[in-house]
Amino acid sequence: MTRKPDQQTLPKGAFRSTYEWQRRQVPPMFRGYWERLAVKNGYYNHKFMADWADGFEDELLLEAGCGDNTTLGERKVPPKRLVGLDPLPTDMKKNPWPRHRVCGVIESLPFADECFAGVYSDSVFEHIDDPGRVCGEFFRVLKPGGRVLINTNSVFNPFMFPNKFMTIRQREWVKRKLKIISEGTYEAPYRINTRRRLIKYLSQAGYVNIRIYRWGVPSMYRPKWVLLLLLLMELLAEIPLFCGLKHRLMATCEKPK
Ligand SMILES: C[S@@+](CC[C@H](N)C(=O)[O-])C[C@H]1O[C@@H](n2cnc3c(N)ncnc32)[C@H](O)[C@@H]1O
Repeated sequence: MTRKPDQQTLPKGAFRSTYEWQRRQVPPMFRGYWERLAVKNGYYNHKFMADWADGFEDELLLEAGCGDNTTLGERKVPPKRLVGLDPLPTDMKKNPWPRHRVCGVIESLPFADECFAGVYSDSVFEHIDDPGRVCGEFFRVLKPGGRVLINTNSVFNPFMFPNKFMTIRQREWVKRKLKIISEGTYEAPYRINTRRRLIKYLSQAGYVNIRIYRWGVPSMYRPKWVLLLLLLMELLAEIPLFCGLKHRLMATCEKPK
């Protein structure tokens, strides 16, 4: 029996983030809508973050919790003086983008006061227990006028919410059962993962010009009904009253000059 092209190119159970594959799964009557959402989500995931880093090309920039990948590395002009920090040296070694790699945790940054022009943290704040302390640490190492970007999950997203109550072993079990292949599994207490709490912690730390953006859907596309469910949820989340259902929360702010 001939297998369909998407079954040949994507391993069973793999994250199905391929644009064309997703597009084909969506019923034709919803495709135009799906394409508009894909453009919007792609904007936040790539262009928004890349634009945030404008002006940092020659500045000292910290990626807090860099793991094995740096989204900003995909910029046309990647930051030349990027410092990556993560507790896992083996993951960090795989990350080609940082110029310097430092082993450590974001709760206690091993850097002098006011040395970075920017600090950014992608997919890390959902894992930390004491966000107030981390926001304070970012503030300490930032130069006056320096900028912060935090990209994290929304706890109100129904696909994220159960993580709050599951141990790592239980989450690994669920992933195995659903044949989901993803990055490592970390604790996810979601202490700062609402718009209100982000604003609270960031303003308590002393930041100004705090802006919060909501976007995205989780990238779990197998089986097909999950993709369709996500699409419906995204449709609902476009209504302002239900915007908390969006998967991602992005915060930007500045240290006063
Ligand atoms: C989901 S990965 C994200 C990696 C990378 N930022 C990215 O966008 O692909 C989460 C990362 O946060 C790191 N992490 C978890 N807790 C941390 C902490 N307390 N301090 C620093 N990094 C931490 C993990 O080691 C892991 O590399």
